[in-house]
Amino acid sequence: MKILALSGGSKNGSNDAMAREALMGAKQAGAEIEFIHLLDLNLKPCNGCIACVNGLMMGTNGDCVLKDDIKWLAEKIFEADGIIWVMPIFEKGAPAVLHIVRDRLFGPAYDPGLNFVAGKIAEKTGQGGPDPRKFIQKVTSFIGIGGSDWSTRISADLNILAMTRKWKVIDDLVFQWSKSIILDDKAVAQCHQIGENIAKAAADVKNAKFLGDPGVCTHCHSRNFYFAPDNTAICEVCGIEGKIQFIDGKIQFVFPDEMYQHAHDTMPGKMKHMDDIYHNETKLKEQKKLPEFKNRVQKYKEFIQASVPGKV
Ligand SMILES: Cc1cc2nc3c(=O)[nH]c(=O)nc-3n(C[C@H](O)[C@H](O)[C@H](O)COP(=O)(O)O)c2cc1C
Repeated sequence: MKILALSGGSKNGSNDAMAREALMGAKQAGAEIEFIHLLDLNLKPCNGCIACVNGLMMGTNGDCVLKDDIKWLAEKIFEADGIIWVMPIFEKGAPAVLHIVRDRLFGPAYDPGLNFVAGKIAEKTGQGGPDPRKFIQKVTSFIGIGGSDWSTRISADLNILAMTRKWKVIDDLVFQWSKSIILDDKAVAQCHQIGENIAKAAADVKNAKFLGDPGVCTHCHSRNFYFAPDNTAICEVCGIEGKIQFIDGKIQFVFPDEMYQHAHDTMPGKMKHMDDIYHNETKLKEQKKLPEFKNRVQKYKEFIQASVPGKV
């Protein structure tokens, strides 16, 4: 059983230290361990070319066309049974490096729903199909570390990772005013415990349970919601739609049972999303052939060129 900790902080800073502390806990619980400092890697942002989706829709693995360290990181994640993310809080949420990893390894290319369909297509096209390791459920835990009390989005930013791959979240902790967390024995012990917890959970993924704050969304534990103009409350992490009510003085998120079938981490939810996207993409493909579409693209291109360094 192997536990991998990924830190998004500065070299040997608080996040690296707490990632290592969590790994001490995991090692104590019997796990093999590995540590990656994400900023050591060459990781380019997703450029939105959707070569991955197009590849999957032809029954291939949908490999990314960008050449950098993402494949190496993907292999490290495949090799681990449990992954701990330790991220500094930047502007209330996750830092840019987490967003890069999320878009590239926890977006469409690695979604089990899309990859399931790719497997079916591969049976017809005779292509190799997706890497079967994309379907293996893992356990994951989150640690967010901030220098102040601006931290309202970090948990949502991290939990969305688990939605895409249907991973089980074990712990989800946010530390405020924690630039000197290394001297805070209580926080250090909590990070150590997160390591122990995930090692135990990784040994029995099927029965692993969430150990953190129950939150407001009873499906994914999120405390982050979007309120639509009609007062519908939409969970920002799992996408379930319902209403917020005050019952016995407490906030409660209530929604019909069928909403579970729309959650972003359920197969029916993923299939519905895929179906919607398929229809939209098919429509776009046809629209792109229209002279009117081509003329408008040309008009915008000709209007102004993008500035780049080194050119006046
Ligand atoms: C660009 C930037 C934005 C930040 N925004 C926040 C913030 O919104 N909330 C917060 O609590 N801390 C914020 N911080 C403080 C970082 O969370 C803190 O410096 C970091 O956790 C230190 O970790 P390290 O020692 O591992 O680098 C910010 C820091 C930077 C550099």
